[in-house]
Amino acid sequence: MFQIAPYDRFPPLALAPGQRVFILTGAGISAESGIRTFRDASGLWQQYRVEDVASPEGWAQDAGVVWRFYSERRAQASQCAPNPAHVALAKLEEALGDRIFLCTQNVDPLHEQAGSRRVHHMHGELFRSRCERCDAADFVDEATYFSIAAIPRCACGGRLRPHIVWFGEMPLGLDVIANELDRCDLFVTIGSSGAVYPAAGFVRQVRSRKGVRAVYVGPEGPDNAGSFDECRLGKAGEVVPGLFVT
Ligand code: OAD
Repeated sequence: MFQIAPYDRFPPLALAPGQRVFILTGAGISAESGIRTFRDASGLWQQYRVEDVASPEGWAQDAGVVWRFYSERRAQASQCAPNPAHVALAKLEEALGDRIFLCTQNVDPLHEQAGSRRVHHMHGELFRSRCERCDAADFVDEATYFSIAAIPRCACGGRLRPHIVWFGEMPLGLDVIANELDRCDLFVTIGSSGAVYPAAGFVRQVRSRKGVRAVYVGPEGPDNAGSFDECRLGKAGEVVPGLFVT
């Protein structure tokens, strides 16, 4: 039976020996660290047109505007620190080892900064760049570029682009994700509006298997709330540290 209620009405989650948990995080887990979400009031997508800064078409039209946007994001994220929710997930990994799969839609490095070692960044990583043209590997890049003239070029002549998955591009490692969705016993989403696919569809995919439980954590129900067993209402920093029996 579907339940939606303040988080303190629910007992902590427990995994039986050998059981696996898939955790999907969204912008909400980093909100208390000071990183702006996308769709909340005064969120990033109220201030920018998505197609200008997060699409191949926007890049083709004005790469300078795209880099200005991601340079601002780099500058902002470098001022931020992990919050208790990130720290709690890092501790959970210490306790569960490879029985936890942490998949994030976030491009910030706060999970790693909190101590998580295995993080799957399905939408790319803010502090990495790659060539727009050739298949040279992506690399760590903390620089900021505020004009077209400042954008470095690869040895092949292509321009450097952010290692970010834009709208219309394929999320990273969908095969690995599908495999983990197929073998988890518990699925938990933290702080995601459930508006962007394919991530918003993961919960339905796991619920198609018998016996898998799906839990949402955030201050309000997401767009796909009805696909979860439970929505535990509260801020990630308050809820996640006590979410699991350890
Ligand atoms: P959204 O901005 O769409 O949603 C943020 C969610 O976080 C909302 O559901 C809020 O209720 C919730 N939230 C806000 N504060 C919170 C808190 N303190 N604790 C927990 N939850 C909180 O962000 P996402 O769903 O992550 O993609 O967005 C998905 C994708 O859309 C992003 O990865 C990005 C964006 O366009 C790309 O750029 C490709």
